[in-house]
Amino acid sequence: MSRLRFLTAGESHGPALVGIIEGIPSGLRIDAEILLAQARRRKLGYGRGNRQNIETDEVRIVGGVRRGVTLGSPIALVLENKDHVRWAEIMRVDPPDDDAPVARQVHVPRPGHADRIGGIKYAFDDLRDVLERASARETAMRVALGTVARALLAELGVTLSSRVVRIGRAVDETPWRDVTPDEIDSSPVRALDPVAAVAMVQEIEHAKAAGDSLGGVFEVVARNVPVALGSYVQWDRRLEAEVGRTFLALNAIKGVELGLGFGAAAVRGSQAHDEYEPDADARTRYRTNRAGGIEGGMTTGQPIVVRAAMKPIATLMQPLDSVDLRTGEATRAHIERSDTCAVPAAAVIGESLLALVLAEAILDKFGGDSLDELRERVKRWQHTVRAR
Ligand SMILES: Cc1cc2nc3c(=O)[nH]c(=O)nc-3n(C[C@H](O)[C@H](O)[C@H](O)COP(=O)(O)O)c2cc1C
Repeated sequence: MSRLRFLTAGESHGPALVGIIEGIPSGLRIDAEILLAQARRRKLGYGRGNRQNIETDEVRIVGGVRRGVTLGSPIALVLENKDHVRWAEIMRVDPPDDDAPVARQVHVPRPGHADRIGGIKYAFDDLRDVLERASARETAMRVALGTVARALLAELGVTLSSRVVRIGRAVDETPWRDVTPDEIDSSPVRALDPVAAVAMVQEIEHAKAAGDSLGGVFEVVARNVPVALGSYVQWDRRLEAEVGRTFLALNAIKGVELGLGFGAAAVRGSQAHDEYEPDADARTRYRTNRAGGIEGGMTTGQPIVVRAAMKPIATLMQPLDSVDLRTGEATRAHIERSDTCAVPAAAVIGESLLALVLAEAILDKFGGDSLDELRERVKRWQHTVRAR
């Protein structure tokens, strides 16, 4: 059984999203403020729809925390959907009072979304039964759960950041420099280079004017990660596999890279691997970080660098061709209120996802029921490693 487990439930316009995370040690400080700070970051980014203005994303802690400190028991979170009041009848949990047809049914699937296959799989006529859960609104809860994991990592000195490197054709490959998280968040698209940011905003504006949508690439970096998390001894203990699974489990993510990633396939070994060299104290260090912080399924102690490719949003205001599933006739796809581009938000979500993967890997290696116990074990390990 995994040391850290989490689940979410809830529909996009339902009463609330709920989440449970189990395995967090006792003694960790958690409060609504930290959860709110990360929830607000998820709403960032030029190109979002107006749902972000409706939702306050205030997460309530309803289990596992007492007087601001975790108890070691499952942590339960609730996030009410403010927009639910407008959808109360359509999304009611109780059986309806009469046989009147429910409003805002969906019968024309959007290419690129879960609508059609979800309807076939669960035998729904009204595709709203699919899209309410397939919607990325659920990621608001994944961010909240990841924020709990992130608070644990912060106690161990591990930090996370992210940035956008591509939106459509606009690219920002500026190497990382010393920036505060606020500096990146203050960019309209969360890019490092302000000139590239302008080009990205323009890409979004042009796509929006054409009733179209955009995807892109974001990068998440974790620093100060203990060395040798994960393992090579069994396929399902390789840490890069867990990173890949977790990022591909984010809506609209179609590719994940670690370090050079696909780029490594195009160069020779001498340009792909990270050579060792002795440092001033005759300890071995890496000269580069092309591997992105994971080698042989284990963390190298270098920053973990993950990139993910997000496809363009599936809901187009100039809708794509589709079929009305009631009549079988060709028509245009359903339109739902939608983002034009959500890559900056996906980058923030990516931080939470990497936090969840790393918190689990740390708990798997070090165990510990209380934060003090865990901290002590990590400290001892870092001391041991430093001596080698
Ligand atoms: C932060 C974020 C926001 C998204 N917003 C929308 C949206 O407004 N409209 C939409 O059609 N898809 C949106 N998506 C993408 C869909 O949720 C996703 O394409 C859909 O669930 C189908 O899954 P798949 O793309 O992984 O195959 C968003 C994804 C993320 C990560």
